[in-house]
Parts: sequence; C-alpha cells; structure tokens
Amino acid sequence: MSADPDLFTRMYERSPDPWHFRSRWYERRKRALTLAALPEERYGSAFEPGCSIGLLTRDLADRCSRLLAMDSAPGAVAQARRELSGVGHVRVVRGRVPESWPEGSFDLVVLSEVLYYFGDTDLQGVLDRTLASSRRGATVIAVHWRHAADEHVRTGDDVHRILDEAPWLARTCRHVEDDFVLETFAVEQPGAARGEGP
Ligand SMILES: C[S@@+](CC[C@H](N)C(=O)[O-])C[C@H]1O[C@@H](n2cnc3c(N)ncnc32)[C@H](O)[C@@H]1O
Repeated sequence: MSADPDLFTRMYERSPDPWHFRSRWYERRKRALTLAALPEERYGSAFEPGCSIGLLTRDLADRCSRLLAMDSAPGAVAQARRELSGVGHVRVVRGRVPESWPEGSFDLVVLSEVLYYFGDTDLQGVLDRTLASSRRGATVIAVHWRHAADEHVRTGDDVHRILDEAPWLARTCRHVEDDFVLETFAVEQPGAARGEGP
C-alpha cells in the first residue's frame, strides 16, 4: 500500500516545511547536486511530481522552458505557488500520481524523494507513466534517502534497484553517499516521442 495522502496533508498543517528543505545544509547541498547531475543544460518540458514547497522547482525553473510541478498536499501546493509566483513558465498543480499524471510529453521527469512512498502497484503506475510520457532522449533523475523510515514503503536503495532493472532506463550517472543515492537515466524506447508538453 502507498503512503496515505492525508499523512502529507497533516504534515504541512503541523509545519510549513516538515523536512526543513529551506534551512538544512543537507537538503540545500542535495538540491545543488541534483541540478549539477542533470546532463543537459536546458530542457524543453519537465514534470516534477511531489514538488513539496517548490524549492527544487525554483532551481529547476532556470533550466526548463516549461515546468509542471505537482503535489498531493494542499499546504505544499500553496507554498510552492508562492515560491514560483511570477515565474510564468512554471505551473504548480495539486494532484496525486500516478492517477493525476498529466497529459503531454516531457524531456525531463524529476523523481526526488517520492518513490519510496509507493506500494508496488502505484510504483509500477508511476514508472509506466514516466515511460509513456517521455520524449526520445528524455532524462529521468531520481534521488532518494537510502534508509528505512516509518512512512516509507521501501528504502531508497530498493527504489533504485528497481529503477536499475527497468530495461527502458539507461543509467547515465550514479552518485551514492551514506544517506542518499542520486541517479540519472536516459529513456530508451520512449512512449511518446511526439507531442506538446503542459
Ligand atoms: C519528501 S517530499 C519531497 C520534496 C521534493 N521532491 C524534494 O526532493 O525536495 C515528498 C513530497 O511528495 C508529496 N507526495 C507524496 N506522495 C505523493 C503522490 N502520490 N503524488 C504527489 N505528491 C506526493 C508529499 O506531499 C511531499 O510534499
């Protein structure tokens, strides 16, 4: 079973920044490494599910012509919208993946600290939709805390083992530290080589 969306809604009701994304050096450094690991300088159209309060979104915005960010928690979406206000090529929407996966196709899909919340069916759904919405040569970047946590269905290491086994994902970068693993992949056999993004 995937983590209950209400869990995240309640987390943002208790604290505006439950993971201390704004203040922790660990988080700020991880965002910088995530940006540095992206192989392309610029992306046309990108999708970032689980965008939280929009800090990684704000950094990604500088590298993308169009960026769609989504989160299931209303408190996260409200803050991300404030963070990105005035940035016309970024749209922040409320929705839960995989079921709210957007129409369109992407050059970049960002899966940062989100896949370990999914049970088997939802995780497969997210991977299927990533493949189906990726343009030829698209980048998928995945970054995850490696250890067990109460609200995580699996560890980040398990998530990345699954990604590494996907035959349509060709790994282009792997960076492992004690606490997190970061990988980039090129999408082979893209599901949607044509089409406009969001
Ligand atoms: C740990 S935060 C990750 C934030 C950001 N991606 C980063 O790496 O800094 C996880 C976020 O994913 C959101 N989330 C969890 N499950 C989700 C789902 N199924 N669909 C959309 N958002 C989800 C939560 O509300 C939360 O804001």
